[in-house]
Amino acid sequence: ADNGYKLWLEYHKITDAAKVKIYTSQLGTTFFQTKSAQSGVAYNELSSGLIDMLNLKPVKVSSVKDGGLIIGTRNELRDIDHVIAADSLFERIGNEGYIIKNIVIAGRKKVVVTANTDIGILYGVFGFLRLLETQTDINKLNIVEYPRTMYRILDHWDNLNRTVERGYAGASIWNWHKLPGYIDQRYIDYARANASVGINGSVLNNVNANALILTTDYLIKVKALADAFRPYGIKVYLSVKFSSPIEIGKLKTADPLDPQVQQWWKDKANEIYHYIPDFGGFLVKANSEGQPGPQTYGRTHADGANMLADALAPHHGIVMWRAFVYDNNVPDDRAKQAYNEFKPFDGKFRPNVIIQVKNGAIDFQPREPFHPLFGAMPNTSLMIEFQLTQEYLGFSTHLVFEAPLFKECLDADTYAMGKGASVANILEGKYNRKLITGMAGVANIGSDINWCGHPFAQANWFAFGRLAWNPGQSSDKIADEWLRMTFNNDLTFVKPMKRVMLQSRETAVNYMTPLGLHHIMGVNTHYGPGPWVDDAGRADWTAVYYHKADSGGIGFNRTSTGSNAVSQYLIPVRDRFENLNTCPEKYLLWFHHVKWTYPTKSGRNLWNELVYRYYTGVDSVKSMQQIWNNMASKVDAERFTAVKQLMSIQYQEAQRWRDACVLYFQTFSQLPIPPGYETPA
Ligand code: GCU
Repeated sequence: ADNGYKLWLEYHKITDAAKVKIYTSQLGTTFFQTKSAQSGVAYNELSSGLIDMLNLKPVKVSSVKDGGLIIGTRNELRDIDHVIAADSLFERIGNEGYIIKNIVIAGRKKVVVTANTDIGILYGVFGFLRLLETQTDINKLNIVEYPRTMYRILDHWDNLNRTVERGYAGASIWNWHKLPGYIDQRYIDYARANASVGINGSVLNNVNANALILTTDYLIKVKALADAFRPYGIKVYLSVKFSSPIEIGKLKTADPLDPQVQQWWKDKANEIYHYIPDFGGFLVKANSEGQPGPQTYGRTHADGANMLADALAPHHGIVMWRAFVYDNNVPDDRAKQAYNEFKPFDGKFRPNVIIQVKNGAIDFQPREPFHPLFGAMPNTSLMIEFQLTQEYLGFSTHLVFEAPLFKECLDADTYAMGKGASVANILEGKYNRKLITGMAGVANIGSDINWCGHPFAQANWFAFGRLAWNPGQSSDKIADEWLRMTFNNDLTFVKPMKRVMLQSRETAVNYMTPLGLHHIMGVNTHYGPGPWVDDAGRADWTAVYYHKADSGGIGFNRTSTGSNAVSQYLIPVRDRFENLNTCPEKYLLWFHHVKWTYPTKSGRNLWNELVYRYYTGVDSVKSMQQIWNNMASKVDAERFTAVKQLMSIQYQEAQRWRDACVLYFQTFSQLPIPPGYETPA
């Protein structure tokens, strides 16, 4: 059944007769030497793809001139590499890139997939299969692909007992009990899916880490996963607890400047690399939300990160040190804390440390301005952390395609080097070539049959991989590919559903947190509306702290007359946010406390605009439902029904958000619901 297990690697049968004819005649003979584990899995993927899509079992030929499809590293294709590309192009694609091209040899047209390495070949094969899955012409090919970031990593917030922090798709896929002896087919399919979009790393466990992960018993299990992933170019990483030397090492302290502690981590690193020679490194959440860290001992983030970096450096491992730090006891605006704590240490981290910064300064909200640390740390490697699991976006019941959210941040101009220094440019290391680069996505994967809980949530995993590979790609292109690969190439399906996907994030913002509102979700669950929450035990977990609604207006004043968080942005971004007239309306209440009668750009006053947004959000969900209902004959029954049910929950939830927020905020505005809108029930 089409239950979604195969993700975007469905390899649907191609039915367009003209296409089948062209593909089959070109691809019937293949030159492909498979000498390594990586090229072996690439070949398997190719042949199962061709069998599923075209009923074609390709004939392997031993000479390049006999093949219609030629696949091999530059070395393997030495005789013809000059026909394919110049040296400079081979240099540009590096270790992971690939070239797909038509060439003519002895009068016969061929498709060639080449790379410098076997992992490049694997990516090239997936890239080629994607062309077939999206039914692209294969006689005008000239594709040069290479990743713009080095570390493209999924962060699993999976606990050792198989619960998943903020996971909405069932239990953790890591079956620690059955490891290392039992390699679930899911692990292989997980690796295939990741490799198909260029993801090359996986942090297996929750950032709120359990120290036990570093015990030998677990390391043996981690090794089994690393072995299973290796052919797919995926390295494993672990989240580590800073107090591990105490918890599992019997030391009295975890002070990073203590020689015994340093030695403990060195020994532990040696042990890890004994089992996993290509182990990726550590992810660390320190001194945040109650986690231990170097500050526990009066030391700094740099002291802590560098100590771990020194233990990993001889083995070429990295430390991903998170900048998501905040503490209720710091009396200042929470949005400012990460910048305040990290900016002073710019240039003070070891070369194998990369600071992992969330896309925004609060916490994966439906909309946040980009994090001011991007642009503030020219001498420090920075990676971005996006959240694929929809903690604040309706879990796995709401259809929210996140590519537009990611792109809004990636495309934002930090002005770090004058105009044109986008967040993406910084992540790509364009402004400091010495730095290491990366992107992380908090995974939305669990053991649900369809992996992500919502059939459309798979698109967020896919989009993350595609953007980590190349942040320059458009949301439109990504949605288009994903729909075709996951469902079908029928334009009467692809076009309307693409529109649904592309609008879905704005729709969610409208019915949840329009105009720059944020963190007004239910306390702890972060699911439904909870703008009234003001008793969560700590100020920075309450909603009233963030929206600050009162009879005078609504919004968080982060300008120079307020918390002055705007000062963390560079000019002219700072000025644009500071000034009420130039602050983009989508961030209005993020930066300003605005009176209820303030005239917005639409001509409506703020109160009416807020009501309008909430109503528009709900109406957009209704149109999404109507469009989906027309798709019954175009998709399989199982996923049709699943999405239909989920959309109806989403519709109810959107109404609940609207009614709750409008009625709650009305108690402050004391203004009537504008005409044309029904009074919420
Ligand atoms: C959010 C989330 C937590 C998570 C934290 C983090 O606050 O609610 O569950 O641990 O982010 O990123 O560390």
